[in-house]
Amino acid sequence: MNRSFEVALNVERAIRMHLLLEEGPFYLYDTEEIRRMCRRFRELLYPGTRSHFACMANCHPEFLRIIRQEGLNVFVNSLEHLQAVVRCGFTGDQIVFAASAMDRRLMRSVRETGAIVILDSLNQVDLWRRICPDARFGIRCNIGGMVEAKKTRGGYFIGKESRLGLIPEEIATLEGNPYVAGLHLYVGTDICSIPYFKQCYRALGEFAPRFPMLDFIDFGGGFGLEDEEGEEFDFDGYGEMAAGVMRELCAKLGRQIRMLIEPGRIIGGRAGYFVSRVTDVKFRNGRQLVGVDASSVQFPRPLFYPDSAHHPVTLLHADRWGNGAAGIPSAAYGCSTYSRDFLARDVMLPRAEIGDILVLGQAGSYCATAFTHFLGFEQPKEIFDDCQTSADAPRTPGILRRAEVHIPG
Ligand SMILES: Cc1ncc(COP(=O)(O)O)c(C=O)c1O
Repeated sequence: MNRSFEVALNVERAIRMHLLLEEGPFYLYDTEEIRRMCRRFRELLYPGTRSHFACMANCHPEFLRIIRQEGLNVFVNSLEHLQAVVRCGFTGDQIVFAASAMDRRLMRSVRETGAIVILDSLNQVDLWRRICPDARFGIRCNIGGMVEAKKTRGGYFIGKESRLGLIPEEIATLEGNPYVAGLHLYVGTDICSIPYFKQCYRALGEFAPRFPMLDFIDFGGGFGLEDEEGEEFDFDGYGEMAAGVMRELCAKLGRQIRMLIEPGRIIGGRAGYFVSRVTDVKFRNGRQLVGVDASSVQFPRPLFYPDSAHHPVTLLHADRWGNGAAGIPSAAYGCSTYSRDFLARDVMLPRAEIGDILVLGQAGSYCATAFTHFLGFEQPKEIFDDCQTSADAPRTPGILRRAEVHIPG
């Protein structure tokens, strides 16, 4: 049987089971899928690669526990997340901390944990050196015009449009500084182009010979969920490329340095589902408007990224044996009076009825963490379930009524 079909059946079974227990909308995470992604990163070719999961994608304690069990480290960018990972048992050498415009108090807190710190400007380097004169640090590098920067979701992370990191002229002023332990880069987000990663990684490597005591290169995150054809991220191609860049660099330096990466979205993105119940159905201008018992403030990506956040939408009939073609132009709207409260727009769905179930996929990253109190809705519960090994459960027929939606790579 086709693997993704089998996963869908098991996930559907889990969704229906949890709906019997939960009153409101909830997130469901397929824990086996999170683990599978962690394993893909553990298998990367370059020896001793250290993968630091970027906790801004999902900082739920159970999510962090799985990450830790699977042998990944963590990357954080705020005090709250730093405290969360420490509570979860991560030790200083397993934590990368990077932020911008840090104050003294934050720098002291980071230092106390022993985390690897990445600094964002020459002023930040000066302040860190005054507060922690013995502690080495990494610098965030804006590789500027060395590559043609791609605009990814959220804007530019490198190049002249980006506010982040030290530009090449600033990096040059630190040349020879023995306290510079690492070079850091973040190329952008949701990228599947291996040649683009390669171009950026090689550009970062060009700074390495200037720092005689360099220990590591941190290539950051940015790994896309799937490309334009819907193909999963090419881990093998990426692994070979990154190992090649590192080997080339180490040969040039005449010594070994460590490779760090910070995958965020890709680790839990496909593992997460946002589940709500259909509470109203209207027709307007030839469109079916499906109202649910949830608000976009509980599933905020369409609110924050109205042009680019698309999630596969599935309508499950309350009657599990019912079926229907996904043939009606539809939108799913939230249960507030806010005119922009949509969870999905421009999707094709079957005819919906009150009591049906609406499931939004690819909801495991940057969704629950983006919850906002605006409009006054509860933070949805997050449920972790190993959906895939419940193989003994009775199989339901193909009743997933999936909408045809375009998901950008
Ligand atoms: C510095 C840094 N590293 C890693 C990540 C994770 O990125 P992604 O989810 O695109 O893999 C982010 C996300 O914003 C980031 O800012």
